[in-house]
Amino acid sequence: MYLKAILSFTIFALHVSAKSVHKGDSDWWKHATFYQIYPRSFKDSNNDGTGDIPGIIDKMPHLIDAGINGIWLSPIYDSPQVDQGYDISNYYAIDPLFGTLDDLENLIKLAHDHGIRVIMDFVPNHTSDQHEWFKASENRTEGYEDYYLWADGTPEQPPSNWISCFGGSAWQWSEKRQQYYLHKFAVQQPDLNYRNPKVHDEMKKYLEYWMDLGVDGFRIDAVEHAYEVKNLTDEPRTYSPGVGPDDYNYLYHIYTDNLPETYQLVYEWRKFIDDYAERTGSDTKVIMTEVYADLNTTMLYYGSADGSVLGADFTFNFFFIQNINLNNSNANDLDAIVNNWLNALPEIYTSNWVLGNHDNRRYPTRFGPENKDGFNMVASLLPGVLVTYNGEEFGQEDGEVTYDQGQDPSARDPATFDQVSRDFERTPLQWDNTTNAGFNEGAKTWLPVSEKYHTLNLASQLVEGEVSHYHNYRALIRKRQENPAKFGSTTFKALSDDTLVLKRSYENDHIVVAFKLGWHNNSVEETIAVPEISCQNGIVALTSVGSKYTVG
Ligand code: NOJ
Repeated sequence: MYLKAILSFTIFALHVSAKSVHKGDSDWWKHATFYQIYPRSFKDSNNDGTGDIPGIIDKMPHLIDAGINGIWLSPIYDSPQVDQGYDISNYYAIDPLFGTLDDLENLIKLAHDHGIRVIMDFVPNHTSDQHEWFKASENRTEGYEDYYLWADGTPEQPPSNWISCFGGSAWQWSEKRQQYYLHKFAVQQPDLNYRNPKVHDEMKKYLEYWMDLGVDGFRIDAVEHAYEVKNLTDEPRTYSPGVGPDDYNYLYHIYTDNLPETYQLVYEWRKFIDDYAERTGSDTKVIMTEVYADLNTTMLYYGSADGSVLGADFTFNFFFIQNINLNNSNANDLDAIVNNWLNALPEIYTSNWVLGNHDNRRYPTRFGPENKDGFNMVASLLPGVLVTYNGEEFGQEDGEVTYDQGQDPSARDPATFDQVSRDFERTPLQWDNTTNAGFNEGAKTWLPVSEKYHTLNLASQLVEGEVSHYHNYRALIRKRQENPAKFGSTTFKALSDDTLVLKRSYENDHIVVAFKLGWHNNSVEETIAVPEISCQNGIVALTSVGSKYTVG
């Protein structure tokens, strides 16, 4: 018996109003729900097998119904698509695979009309090797020589022992230039050189172009990799058991990751973007940074503790992803993750909660499908921003992909495909139980549609009056706008190895989540005292699918 319920001492009112985006609304993002759209897999409007911008427009009613406040689009720029769009060949053009600039402008307009903000992915660490800058740099064209990180070596001896995140040497020999270039990701993704002021100028132009077009902020990709030490010193070995010399984890990345200059770069962009907003009288343009690091390092991306220097509005809280898993974690680990985060975050900054994204197995697969609602309840009712990866709102699980079907450039070794590939979390969205889960009209899809779609799809969870993951998610998104969730104090603690309570209190209003984890085959009923809900007139506002409680 899994017991997951929200007991609320407030009247649980479902109340939605479509608001359009207002100028000068600086705090709009602080309690927002951002919804990550992975465009390739969201909705394919032209039946070519890949999702596109018109597909996102088609699904706007869903986004409105869910009640989210902003969409973040994974890259839709011109790209050879080696790393599914994270290898950009032109920062100013939309890849025809996804549609046109007109399509994007229509999407922004429609979203704004419904009070939904639009966040673009900003990919500053690297370009595609097909970008004009790289071609010019490789040819040593005047002005472009130092746009990328070039270094001497011999074809047998690269400049340092650095390893790419996708495995193997991070250096690639260029016959043309007779030098090596650095690539932290695929060979086709050369790293830009941030010691060159021209690269800073180019990036500001890129940001400004999209802000002029009306976008509301940026998710900054892989920013921890922006700088490396000047003298290209070898990195020390980790000596981790079972980790081979081509594996990124073979080395400690003390000379290539999170260098002090990297934070300064984010602070520089913050200032540039804030100045833009001020100059144009627009609302805060939100900045979210992608950094996988320890807690203290992560916090530095926010800015200084006293707020005298500001960086990202929030840097993704990846600790549910990095530190929790089905086999080894329990309620105490969750307690630690949440409380360590809340304690480390300087008071002036806004928390955020992330359960998954396009680079990590979907959370119902990582944490067990029986915990779908429990995690959505906790993540959405903790203070601050919620980031939802498309499909999490109805509990989509990982898809089934074989090595031959795989598309992820980081997983090209059949022996490690299942551990490494990010294709599983990227399979098409399961809208309904028609052909190809309603993703398209039956054309071959870029990744296979998961067979689970026959029973696990959004449409099946829309039946009025039934408890479903989606109904819960939708209710939670509204509940996030109530005073306790927005402004309340927070208690989050493990009551036993499998049981957790979250309480948010604002004056006499309280929201309590009682969460019994279902991940150690612990289907045994437990009786447990929950002092946080010892109140006279609490009512059950929401229950998980399968709970023995009923709303009311
Ligand atoms: C992080 C992105 O989320 C990931 O998908 C990509 O492969 C790398 N950065 C490189 O851009």
